[in-house]
Amino acid sequence: MAAPAGAGSTSAGGTPPMIPRYPPGVPAVGLGTFSYPFVADDVRASVLAALELGYRHLDTAALYGSESAVGEAVAEAVRRGVVASRAEVFVTTKVWCTQCHPHLVLPTLMESLQNLKMEYVDLYLIHWPMAIKPSKPHYPLKREDIVPMDLSGVWQAMEECHRLGLAKMIGVSNFTTKKLQELLAVAKIPPAVNQVELNPSWQQKKLIEFCRDKGIHVTAYSPLGGQTGPSSVLQSGVLEEIAKARGKSVAQISLRWIYEQGVSMVVKSFKRERLEENTMIFHWELSDEDRLKISQMLQQKMATVTGLLCPDGVSSVDIAEVDVVEM
Ligand SMILES: NC(=O)c1ccc[n+]([C@@H]2O[C@H](COP(=O)([O-])OP(=O)(O)OC[C@H]3O[C@@H](n4cnc5c(N)ncnc54)[C@H](OP(=O)(O)O)[C@@H]3O)[C@@H](O)[C@H]2O)c1
Repeated sequence: MAAPAGAGSTSAGGTPPMIPRYPPGVPAVGLGTFSYPFVADDVRASVLAALELGYRHLDTAALYGSESAVGEAVAEAVRRGVVASRAEVFVTTKVWCTQCHPHLVLPTLMESLQNLKMEYVDLYLIHWPMAIKPSKPHYPLKREDIVPMDLSGVWQAMEECHRLGLAKMIGVSNFTTKKLQELLAVAKIPPAVNQVELNPSWQQKKLIEFCRDKGIHVTAYSPLGGQTGPSSVLQSGVLEEIAKARGKSVAQISLRWIYEQGVSMVVKSFKRERLEENTMIFHWELSDEDRLKISQMLQQKMATVTGLLCPDGVSSVDIAEVDVVEM
């Protein structure tokens, strides 16, 4: 495992634990702010609580509707002295498929910055490698609105966002190794990060290895199996057994396993005690036996392109081409 900076530090009495950062500057644990239905007060409260508990990584997106609440909570945290300044916080946002067109990327980031009331984001991501006819960010998507994506043009626009200082880093989300290869072939600035579904139930071994080889940092989303339906992570008998034996929670076993892959993660909770629990993963480790058991877990992917689409309708673009699932 690549040891991130700060991994050995312990918290002084009363001060929150220091969450280590991976080399491109990405804190190992961040707060996810997607929730449905979206309630601004819940997001504001959880961001503020998370910052008090030592989180310094906040994940939002144009689609989530949470950018303004995130920005307001960071400003409030600065006012209260929870953080010294906005610069202490690593903020990620994403451009949605409806804006995944070369001429819309920069104006969309400007809009996100207005929502966040920030001068820059730390990381700007292409949310999915798919373009939808321009409209307000929305979901679910109509199949007939899928259009071929100009990946080269969109990435040039992302590079422009970086050159202008509006995005300190640029990256992608939900990219397979095949999509990354296409991108690397045209990129002047390679993506710093690929944010993907990743947890013990969807381990992404091939992708992690590919990204390591290319110097792309991986961030896990849905590290606890996500918010829809019964979680294959939180309800895993294998993880439960390991958790019992170690005196940890199932959530902590999953997050610790992710951390041991050299991957950072964004995890969502609106509950203060869980926010705290989710940071307590640094000063202990899994055994080889635990790792072996986890490596043998049944694999099941949750987030797919078809899951983003209305069930009816016909696409002129081959959906199989955008919905590649690789183990
Ligand atoms: N790039 C993408 O396409 C993409 C896709 C999906 C998600 N994301 C990002 O990733 C973030 C996290 O993923 P996610 O929201 O899908 O799911 P997740 O973080 O895997 O799981 C969140 C769920 O687990 C619960 N939870 C949190 N901590 C817990 C604990 N210690 N014990 C038991 N339950 C716990 C939460 O409930 P409570 O709130 O009640 O605690 C919530 O329902 C999102 O919020 C979003 O920022 C990105």
